[in-house]
Amino acid sequence: MENVHIMQHPLIKHKITMLRMESTGTSEFRKLVEEIAMLMGYEALADLQTKDVEIRTPVEETIQPVLDGRKIAIVPILRAGLGMVGGILSLVPNAKVGHIGMYRDEETHLPHPYYCKLPPFIDQRLIVVVDPMLATGGSLTDAVSEIKAQGGKHIKCMCIIAAPEGVKLFTEKHPDVELYIGAMDRCLNSNAYICPGLGDAGDRIFGTK
Ligand code: PRP
Ligand code: URA
Repeated sequence: MENVHIMQHPLIKHKITMLRMESTGTSEFRKLVEEIAMLMGYEALADLQTKDVEIRTPVEETIQPVLDGRKIAIVPILRAGLGMVGGILSLVPNAKVGHIGMYRDEETHLPHPYYCKLPPFIDQRLIVVVDPMLATGGSLTDAVSEIKAQGGKHIKCMCIIAAPEGVKLFTEKHPDVELYIGAMDRCLNSNAYICPGLGDAGDRIFGTK
């Protein structure tokens, strides 16, 4: 699984532990999701291209690097992925944002698509798909299939917590896509929730339970 990157930074580990705690309330949860997304984005975007440009400091003229290469599109999977967008935009404020709507059927645990709007020239962009939870893997796998069907070619995905079952499904279907994971958990329970996980990410971000 050479395209799977599990975060090792102590700040990310610490913040994910805070996120998991049942006692963490909505506003703190939102803040942590955004901070973790920013720290994971820093790692996931470490291979962005640069080009040299001539600038003038108050002291002298010099040649220095600036970002170059593909324009970026951030694509959150609704709803919970929305919580990660601000953190990545704080790193790359000019990125465009697309949206993919998916909900998991409570009985079958299968994903159902309900919305998709991607920025133009999607084939030329670096696409960063974000969703805090990779459980069975159905939602992320189908979201990436839809992005590819619409022309997306250069795709990275970021999930804060993943289950081994979801990583297996996703990497079998999309071995070409780089997957960044904040923490790899033990397994799924009978409701296809991640153990130990953090509960329902969407409900905890939006306070809907
Ligand atoms: C959650 C989560 C993922 C999905 C993961 O969303 O944000 O999108 O479940 O599960 P999977 O890997 O088994 O597909 P949910 O469907 O609960 O929707 P929500 O974000 O609107 O709450
Ligand atoms: N979706 C969540 O929000 N949490 C899980 O544990 C599994 C799917």
